[in-house]
Amino acid sequence: MSSINSNKHTFIKFETKLVFCINGARVVLNNPDPDITLLQYVRSIGLTGTKLGCAEGGCGACTVLLSSYDSLTQKINHNSVNACLVPLCSVEGKHVITIEGIGNVNKPHPVQERIARMHGSQCGFCTPGIVMSLYALLRNNPNPSLHDIEECFDGNLCRCTGYRPILDAAKSFATTPLKQETGKTANGVKKENSCGRPDCCRLSKDVPCEELPDGFTKPVFKNYEPSQELIFPPSLMKHEKHALSFNGRKTKWFRPITFMQFLQLKNQYPDAKIVSGNTEVGIETAFKNLQYNVRIHVGDLEELKGHKFNDDGLLIGANISLTQFQSILKEACQRYEPYKCQVFQAFLSIIRWFAGTQIRNVATPAGNIITGSPISDFNPIFLCTNSKFTLTSLDKSLNRRVVPATSFWTGYRQNVCKNTEALESVFIPFSGKREFVRSYKQAKRRDDDIAIVNAALRVALDEKNVVKDASFAFGGMSGVTVRALSAEQSIRGKSWGDKGMLSWLIAKIDEQLQLSFSAPGGMASYRKALVSGFVYKFWHDVAKNIGILNEAEIADADSFINIIERDVSRGVQTIGNPEEDKKIVGKAIPHISALKQVTGEAIYTDDTPKIHNELYGALVLSQKAHAKILSINASEALKQHGVKSFFSAKDVPGTNIWGPVVHDEEVFASKEVHFVGQPIGLIVANTQAIAQEAARLVKIEYQELPYVLTIEEAIEQSSFFPVDRRIVRGDVDKAMKQADFVFEGRSRIGGQEHFYLETQTSLIIPKPEDNEIEIHASTQNPSETQHLVASVLGISANKVITKVKRLGGGFGGKETRSLPLTLALAVGAWHLRRPIRCMLNRGEDFMISGQRHPFLGIWKIGLTKEGKFLALDLQLFNNAGWSADLSAAVLERAMTHSDNCYYIPNVRTTGKMCRSNTVSNTAFRGFGGPQGMMVTENIVSEVADRMGMSAETIRELNFYKEGQKTHFNQPLTDWHLPEIYHQVKESSDYNKRKQQINDYNASHRWRKRGLALIPTKFGLSYTALHLNQAGALVHIYQDGSVLVSHGGVEMGQGLHTKMLQIAAEALEVPLDNVHLMETSTTTVANASATAASVSSDINGYAVLNACKTLSERLKPYREKHPKASFKEICNKAYMDRINLSANGFYKTPDIGYNWDTNEGLMFFYFTTGVAATEVEIDVLTGEHQILRTDLCMDIGRSLNYAIDVGQIEGAFVQGVGWCTIEEMLYFPNGHVFTKGPSNYKLPGFRDIPQDFRISTLKDVKYSHLKTIHSSKGIGEPPLFLGSSVFFAIRDAIGHARKSQGIKESFSLISPATPERIRMACQDEICRAATVTKKDGEKAWVVMI
Ligand SMILES: Cc1cc2nc3c(=O)[nH]c(=O)nc-3n(C[C@H](O)[C@H](O)[C@H](O)COP(=O)(O)OP(=O)(O)OC[C@H]3O[C@@H](n4cnc5c(N)ncnc54)[C@H](O)[C@@H]3O)c2cc1C
Ligand code: FES
Ligand code: FES
Repeated sequence: MSSINSNKHTFIKFETKLVFCINGARVVLNNPDPDITLLQYVRSIGLTGTKLGCAEGGCGACTVLLSSYDSLTQKINHNSVNACLVPLCSVEGKHVITIEGIGNVNKPHPVQERIARMHGSQCGFCTPGIVMSLYALLRNNPNPSLHDIEECFDGNLCRCTGYRPILDAAKSFATTPLKQETGKTANGVKKENSCGRPDCCRLSKDVPCEELPDGFTKPVFKNYEPSQELIFPPSLMKHEKHALSFNGRKTKWFRPITFMQFLQLKNQYPDAKIVSGNTEVGIETAFKNLQYNVRIHVGDLEELKGHKFNDDGLLIGANISLTQFQSILKEACQRYEPYKCQVFQAFLSIIRWFAGTQIRNVATPAGNIITGSPISDFNPIFLCTNSKFTLTSLDKSLNRRVVPATSFWTGYRQNVCKNTEALESVFIPFSGKREFVRSYKQAKRRDDDIAIVNAALRVALDEKNVVKDASFAFGGMSGVTVRALSAEQSIRGKSWGDKGMLSWLIAKIDEQLQLSFSAPGGMASYRKALVSGFVYKFWHDVAKNIGILNEAEIADADSFINIIERDVSRGVQTIGNPEEDKKIVGKAIPHISALKQVTGEAIYTDDTPKIHNELYGALVLSQKAHAKILSINASEALKQHGVKSFFSAKDVPGTNIWGPVVHDEEVFASKEVHFVGQPIGLIVANTQAIAQEAARLVKIEYQELPYVLTIEEAIEQSSFFPVDRRIVRGDVDKAMKQADFVFEGRSRIGGQEHFYLETQTSLIIPKPEDNEIEIHASTQNPSETQHLVASVLGISANKVITKVKRLGGGFGGKETRSLPLTLALAVGAWHLRRPIRCMLNRGEDFMISGQRHPFLGIWKIGLTKEGKFLALDLQLFNNAGWSADLSAAVLERAMTHSDNCYYIPNVRTTGKMCRSNTVSNTAFRGFGGPQGMMVTENIVSEVADRMGMSAETIRELNFYKEGQKTHFNQPLTDWHLPEIYHQVKESSDYNKRKQQINDYNASHRWRKRGLALIPTKFGLSYTALHLNQAGALVHIYQDGSVLVSHGGVEMGQGLHTKMLQIAAEALEVPLDNVHLMETSTTTVANASATAASVSSDINGYAVLNACKTLSERLKPYREKHPKASFKEICNKAYMDRINLSANGFYKTPDIGYNWDTNEGLMFFYFTTGVAATEVEIDVLTGEHQILRTDLCMDIGRSLNYAIDVGQIEGAFVQGVGWCTIEEMLYFPNGHVFTKGPSNYKLPGFRDIPQDFRISTLKDVKYSHLKTIHSSKGIGEPPLFLGSSVFFAIRDAIGHARKSQGIKESFSLISPATPERIRMACQDEICRAATVTKKDGEKAWVVMI
């Protein structure tokens, strides 16, 4: 126990023990380190089910439940929280429940069971967090509605599933019958098919039952019994609160238990950082490297957590959580007359979109107010409603003072609060009669995103609608929340309904909120347009309320004054009768690891228990885009306690040069750096924190060199790799001359970050003998890892073993770009002869690991007057980044997919790889194919506009016919694409809906809908011939159990599940008999990377071939002993000395394309599909919602429909992200701007189609398909169909433009971000908001 006696005040006694419970077990820690997060702690004690995905509260992978007992109300509060932002020291007296605490594989919690069995887990890395969010909801509300369920995931991301199966599993807990809210069709009632809900419709004979997806076996779940949940530990209820003080390596922590103690501490330590929810401080310390040596935690101070309904408004304690704030506001709205609650409603409408649930459960108004971020969601409302803040201090000169919000903030993140002061409470006054308050927010994504611009607008009118008072506050328009003071003053005395009032107001506010083209934050024109858009909405909202609009105007206003509200989503999967006649292959078996993944038992690389003597590595990264390295000085870093060593280029024992195809990269940059993020060295230390801190201390002196970032700059400076690809068919120039129409254009497509939830991770274990090295890596490419590590260490490959259990997602990003980390760590481990581990943090992963290639297509197309394509002249450029990596193959695939599904008799496609000073871009699901098809579909849309035809007419006229050859001379066989297209067109009611959309758009000025029908064709095979091979090794043991090994890696796509299905069926044993341990280079040598969507095809055949060999060997025994069990058969064979191990091999036949002659088969076959999507856009903000998608794929005879549907939905949603909200941006100095979930937005749960209908083509014959069990590769092909959303948006924008009288076609850059959507609409508001670039001005960020 320690103590302080501060300024004659009470003597505070501090305990130095932290007491809490984890999963029911009591934990007492003596003087824990205040810098440790709850996530670091739980993982360090082996509870590795809780995952690290971002460390910034943006992905939800680390979600745990934090329960606390409120002795005043005698209630237990359950809150889902982001363990990555919760300081361990803040959990005193609380109960932490992690994924391990709620169930296990043998006894899963109903949430875990249902997510696993309803196919809601693919790679499984996000799954524990998602399980815990749903679990938290049920703990607080065992009877949630469908809306509650959709909302509870607003702080979670999943990169694999496309969310639909998770939502379906979660909705089985909803109290609203599914049918009622989803409107699906009814069917029979069967008691035994209950979903597990007490009020399940299947338990009642009278209620029609919700039909499950066609073709799947109906799951029967165990009931959810809230009474069976883990109880709050009674010892914690009685736990006495003490003031706490801990001293860590760098930080001192105080937890006072009274407000007076807090003020004393603040008086004694004026520079101490107050910590409440830690959602801001946690970011500052982890990412901005700010160090606060003394911290005072106020999260447990009851004095700061109360609220009071006063006569004139609401008083809240400064440190209530935002979740509490939300319920208090709701209560206030119930208590008081509506006019008084305008301001509360303004808060409520913004809180919904403030971060995610986990953040709202801990973050506080005080944290938001004191931080004073210019894009704070609350500060505009506080400002414009004359709210007041009470500051308290023991400093007599300050004492207790009330500061109006209007004079609180003084500059960028600055305010009047003095060092010794604390924010005690916040007063929010009622609004008056005829006073209107509204809040607005526009972000890149609606859920869990910070604002681009937000606003709070207030006006008070007299009985004659004359403005008595007004305040207009905006965030995101300057370094601080600003008010349009001059507009506020000059509007007084004017009538709200005056003619020209709205345009006057917009112009007046715009005049004050000017931005330059290069303004920090970028998007100057868009931000100005948003301000005007909000004002436009506000004026109409008020006008409607005061009755100055006519009926038609009211109807119009109703359609745009609010945001686009989303319905509860629903999904339907129509997959025929896949289980009929199926034994094991073809059955919709859940992912073989699903139960392990939902319970947190599945082990990923960083979950491997710490090995004796293990060290941690941290990379030293280039901070310059292009520079000579003048010197490297690690002396300061090496002085730090716990630092073991520093390695750089000179320490590489073998060759420092490597590369997946061309050897043009260095393990550690030796003389020059070529991009920001290039590894220069490696620090090895005892712990992660020490290694990372020391890495920042390594001093590099650079001499900067000129650099190139974008494709346009590369073209201008002829900065290309020496790769020139061409595919030529026919005579393009001649055909152009004969064409009735010739059009030209450019299509620009941005990159995409993989954002696998598990970042790149490696653990290198040097073996004690013979220089052997064991590698555990999160890689799609174990074999290449083995070979390159051997070459870098100067040893032979037979000394290196690579093992991969599973990946937390890969999507191509771990095909080659897992290597820079592994190679660097291998050098360290080699020298130190000690294991070294490293898991890149999310920012490093963005910087180092490469993305999907940005592309530019420059095109010229010739057509007949009917719209038939005659000739295409296409130049494709990709931004390869600084090294070649796989960029040539990506370029080739873009070129071979640039026909999409259309026959063009004369084609000249050329490709160039731009060399830039950015990260080396790499494989990403689709591998260039989507970019090539995107260019084609842009051509179709633009040509249709220019010829005054519909895009569908152009498509239908030009579809390939059976047997026609592609431009790379491959005949199309089993060509069912036109059939799928017409099926989707019909089943989606395309023509009828198109008419309805036309009608809708004609009567809605600021809301537009759009529809698009997009086909895709994707070629299956690696384009490098030698990679089309696979091996397998199958052992049968004497007890009849089977161990399968193959060269493919499990990254969520269900590969191992399919392989086990194939093996079990081939050996005629139950699925439970077969097992797969891991992928290892010792069982299967020289395996190709798991990529190109062919892994099931090629590994499946290899497994099948091995199993056939074994079956042949066992055949005589089976014939001789027809009644014997498999175990007995195997035993008899063993006793006869039969070899019960076999390897299998497969190489894809027939293929082999020659780029020089344009001959030979490029692909073994094609997977095709079509999607029809309808969207709605808010023209005033650029926001969009996907109303409905109908998608059909031809996937052959599926090995496992459930897994394939999962691949389709996941790929589609990833494709939607690629061409809508996912935007990679760079600062002009080459640093990456979008380095994590805070500013790089993946689609979330509420970004998927509200109505999502998936089907697969059935009842067709395949006369040429020679794949395993006639299945088709499905991992990549559906991704491009996400672009149906892009083209539906384009259609909606087209309607908006037409309503403005704009007839010209337009080119929409992908991704169609809210900014691009808004600015493409080109109405008078956009035009007035447009900021022109002045000479010498640079954009704040650029797309490369
Ligand atoms: C993933 C994520 C999403 C977010 N989304 C949004 C969003 O949508 N909109 C938005 O506006 N913001 C958002 N934020 C930022 C948000 O402002 C803060 O997260 C939150 O309000 C801070 O509250 P806190 O209790 O966690 O503050 P802390 O991090 O604990 O503290 C923040 C600051 O407030 C000070 N402080 C706290 N309490 C007091 C007190 N009583 N007296 C004096 N000083 C005090 C601290 O010293 C510190 O300087 C987000 C943050 C994250 C991590
Ligand atoms: S790891 Fe905590 S939210 Fe991503
Ligand atoms: S299953 Fe969700 S991220 Fe992989």
